[in-house]
Amino acid sequence: MSALKNKRILIGISGGIAAYKTAELTRALIKKGAEVRVCMTKAATEFITPLTLQALTGNPVHSDLLDTEAEAAMGHIELARWADLIMIAPASADLIARLAHGHANDLLSTICLATDTPIHIAPAMNRLMWSNKATQDNCKTLAQRGFTLHGPAEGEQACGETGAGRMLEPLELAENVVAKFSQEKTSQVLTGKTVLITAGPTREAIDPVRYITNRSSGKMGYAIASAAQRLGAEVQLVSGPVALEAPNGVTRTLVESALQMHDKTLNLAKNADIFIATAAVADYSPAQFAQQKIKKKKDKTKESLTLELQTNKDILSDVSHTFPNLFTVGFAAETENLIENAQSKLKRKKLDMIVANQVGENKAFDKDTNQIEIIWADGQQSLPEQTKTEIAKELMEVITERFSAK
Ligand code: CTP
Repeated sequence: MSALKNKRILIGISGGIAAYKTAELTRALIKKGAEVRVCMTKAATEFITPLTLQALTGNPVHSDLLDTEAEAAMGHIELARWADLIMIAPASADLIARLAHGHANDLLSTICLATDTPIHIAPAMNRLMWSNKATQDNCKTLAQRGFTLHGPAEGEQACGETGAGRMLEPLELAENVVAKFSQEKTSQVLTGKTVLITAGPTREAIDPVRYITNRSSGKMGYAIASAAQRLGAEVQLVSGPVALEAPNGVTRTLVESALQMHDKTLNLAKNADIFIATAAVADYSPAQFAQQKIKKKKDKTKESLTLELQTNKDILSDVSHTFPNLFTVGFAAETENLIENAQSKLKRKKLDMIVANQVGENKAFDKDTNQIEIIWADGQQSLPEQTKTEIAKELMEVITERFSAK
């Protein structure tokens, strides 16, 4: 009965007569345990009132991209991240065209552009609009980009014609959503396992207002945390200061310095099965922390300032040596001799696997794409340049395979 318990579904409604059926779809998804929010295009509100959907979901309906009040309550980016699945029903020919061309000219299309959540669409339109090559090509483009299409069905249409273009029935759509999640469940191969991940940069304080840090954005580590969570693992993320929200379903501990990250991570490692060190941990920190702000030297003859740095503890190495049974994965960010340096780190830090990536010259750090080389004692696999979300998913599959073989 609660097949969709804990699932967050964002229903998108575009303008079409089938929009009235979406009330039924909304009810069916809620009945199956899902938490539902609704986003409507302006045209959709001509066919069914937002009030109906608000009453059914118990949540305000989102429809305006530039509504400051709605943005303050739950901004469009947040809404895009909130959902586990987006179902657009009905999807009109116009919306399909806008999605295929990457438009962001209303709230629904903007959300679809700003998310990596799976998007499902249930087309509904006149049979000639559906069979038109433009619509067919747009649907092909969307399918190639990973959208899932449901229907349309054949039958009598609101315009009086008969043919393909009817929206699938709400209960059938609801069943398809259930099927999608149960399919995901069977691939949850890390259920019952704990994955510990470090991510982001660290900050090493010089005085109360200054610190040493690096350009890491944390995007790779956060994407891996999401991918591990989707495989069913309990995920612990120890993160340095980044501008990212904690991924859905992941437990995050925020830290600042390398030492704080070290202590939290070693503590959490006791209960972990897999440890993935993606953090760009500062190798050195100021030997002395100045309690007061360091003042500029007034004496012009002494214009330089020397900071003494001390070596930080190596988190990855300490974890792999303290917990030899843990499956440990390191990252090697290199500007030269990528493979040789990574292989020597694999041995030196006593790791099960190392992920080598080239940094510098506009590569990896603070970017949305990455390209990596995965190396273990008797094997190697390269993943070509793709988004960090895609890299994370494929990397987690390789890690899971090697972990199961250990
Ligand atoms: N790492 C860590 N703790 C540190 C330094 C690094 O856990 N104090 C981890 C990183 O998270 C990464 C791996 O070790 O997974 C490799 O980090 P990297 O900086 O590339 O290697 P270093 O050992 O610091 O060697 P070098 O800087 O000389 O390349």
